[in-house]
Amino acid sequence: MIPIKNKGEIEKIRKASRITSELLFLLGKEICPGITTLELDRIAFNFIKRKGAEPAFKGYRSYPATLCTSVNGEVVHGIPSSIELKEGDIVGIDAGVGFDHYYGDSTRTFSVGKISSEASRLLKTTREALNLGIKKAVVGNRVSDISYAIGSHVEKKGYSVVREFVGHGIGRELHEEPEIPNFGSPGQGSFLRSGMVFAIEPMVNMGKKEIKILKNGWTAVTSDGKPSAHFEDTVLIGEDGPEVLT
Ligand code: MF3
Ligand code: CO
Repeated sequence: MIPIKNKGEIEKIRKASRITSELLFLLGKEICPGITTLELDRIAFNFIKRKGAEPAFKGYRSYPATLCTSVNGEVVHGIPSSIELKEGDIVGIDAGVGFDHYYGDSTRTFSVGKISSEASRLLKTTREALNLGIKKAVVGNRVSDISYAIGSHVEKKGYSVVREFVGHGIGRELHEEPEIPNFGSPGQGSFLRSGMVFAIEPMVNMGKKEIKILKNGWTAVTSDGKPSAHFEDTVLIGEDGPEVLT
């Protein structure tokens, strides 16, 4: 069963999501060659605490940090480290916030200084795919209409969609039903209803779709070492269409 949220619950998800998006905006201004992802993680932790909220990832299945910071060929779940970002890198910053027992979840992939035109096309395409998916998050559509909108756009641009990780329902928990793959044919899965809240999150590889998990048990990297991008928003399926909460 996909949970339907009432007005009070939606307000709390809205609050958690707002803190998440403010945080990503703040981090975006900090990102530059020379900063470490561990420094970004510390900024994020302090910001969330100052807002009276909680980092949603820290401690989740023993995850050790506030952010996931995935650099270049890292797909998702990069663990913040003392390695400095450098000119030309791309870095996916995934942030989750809990507020009053409700959750928001969002990711942006940022460029570090000047990046290659091919990397910038990857970011643009992933962002477009997310937005196309969001447009399909409307009452009467089905879950895989979102999946198809994302996957077909990515493949049309010559990139590949990661299969192993999916978008998800969110709200009372960080991960709820349904799973939202970023590929597949339209017209499948549950019908969307007003009051559902989804984290939609395409992960797009410049090269081949295959990934592997590093020995830390968390970090997914591309098998071919080529860059990968990730964008994510928390989206309310409203009476009058999708509302991006992050
Ligand atoms: N946005 C990711 C997700 O929805 C982040 C989870 S990281 C974890 O799965 F550490 F919390 F697992
Ligand atoms: Co998510």
